[in-house]
Amino acid sequence: MPEFQTTPGTRDILPPDAARWRAFVDSFARVVESAGYSQIILPMFEDLGVFQRLGDATDVVTKEMYDFVDKGGRHIALRPEQTAGVCRAYVQHHPVVPWKVWYAGPNFRYEKAQQGRYRQFDQVGIEVLGVDDPQLDVEVIALAHDFYRSIGLKNVELHINSLGDTGDRARYVEALASYFHAHETELSEESRITLARNPLRVLDSKRSEDTDVIAQAPSISEFFSPEAAQHFDSVQEGLALLGIDFVVNDRLVRGLDYYRSTTFELVSTALESAQTAVGGGGRYDGLVEDLGGDPTPGIGFAIGLDRTLLACDAEGVFPAPDQGADVFVVDTTGGRAALRMASALRAAGLRAERTYGAKSMKSQMKTANKSRALVAVIIGEDELARGVATVRPMDGGEQSEYSLDAVVATVVDIVKKAK
Ligand code: HAM
Repeated sequence: MPEFQTTPGTRDILPPDAARWRAFVDSFARVVESAGYSQIILPMFEDLGVFQRLGDATDVVTKEMYDFVDKGGRHIALRPEQTAGVCRAYVQHHPVVPWKVWYAGPNFRYEKAQQGRYRQFDQVGIEVLGVDDPQLDVEVIALAHDFYRSIGLKNVELHINSLGDTGDRARYVEALASYFHAHETELSEESRITLARNPLRVLDSKRSEDTDVIAQAPSISEFFSPEAAQHFDSVQEGLALLGIDFVVNDRLVRGLDYYRSTTFELVSTALESAQTAVGGGGRYDGLVEDLGGDPTPGIGFAIGLDRTLLACDAEGVFPAPDQGADVFVVDTTGGRAALRMASALRAAGLRAERTYGAKSMKSQMKTANKSRALVAVIIGEDELARGVATVRPMDGGEQSEYSLDAVVATVVDIVKKAK
């Protein structure tokens, strides 16, 4: 075994999977840019305080943060997600609202590594700051839905909930706390610990001992203010209007503390592992203020790239893009002719490959076949002396000679027709 390997929870994304990742981000960009979102690129580490706003009762903050003191004595953390960074950037740069941004990139959480749960994982996501209209909630959820459709996933369920406004949420947490305390002896050991820190999170427990107590717990909907109830109704109406199926799940609380009002999660029913949430999001109307800005409503979502690709594997959709060559240059004159020809073909936008070192014609043709090139351009001593090259379609079609000047245009033409 080699001395060094990837550390737990991290992976090498090798070819051709890496191309699949890039295609994933490109597809996401196409969907959200059509709705007016622009890309933002945030630092991968920030002042720890930015992420502490995710909630001191969340595992993400208390147990999973990759934090350290840098050489300048600053307390820094690798980002566990990007919503807090977007809000920090908003407060720092005062952009015009509505501010509609999308992002992609890695995040870091010290979690127990398993299938679909990594310590470094990628997300794509969007955030909108400055709008509290429920129609925006509908549009945001619809974009997540449309994206899953665009990559061919069918077995993704949309679960939605509302956590009410700040007051509703606080009253609900209080009621939940007293309910769970009254049933504390029936709860699992883990849930009793969770209860002391954050009663809402007890609702997340999947332990069989907790199922009955959770089933009887009060529902957030009993605590909605008229405004919160109306907002949630409008979101449901809007989704129905767009023909998007959803399930109202009043036990959906999400893992981060900043959520208010609308929350949602996208769950793959094709995945058999414990990690079936492929994406999630919601409103976080207090977060900008928590980070020192003026009160500003916010909503967004993030989609887990690693996990969504596992769902794609399970459904047999969104394969890695074909990375076969367009053209292969075979040069038996020493390689200088291939150097020039490959460069000219690449400048014309083709994927052109060749071999290196003086290889025989046979060996070069073998590599050309493996490259799945559509065309071979063959230059031997005789051709070079006459200023020509042989263009040979790899599907067995008839080969012809062209002057070196005409080769590029000819190959471009053949490739265009074949694709
Ligand atoms: P989250 O639910 O923590 O939300 O993460 C969103 C998605 O990222 C999850 O549904 C999952 O697919 C993926 N994910 C999270 N942790 C891991 C992990 N350890 N390994 C693999 N995949 C993972 C957020 O991060 C919020 N910032 C979403 C948001 C944006 N809310 C509002 N705006």
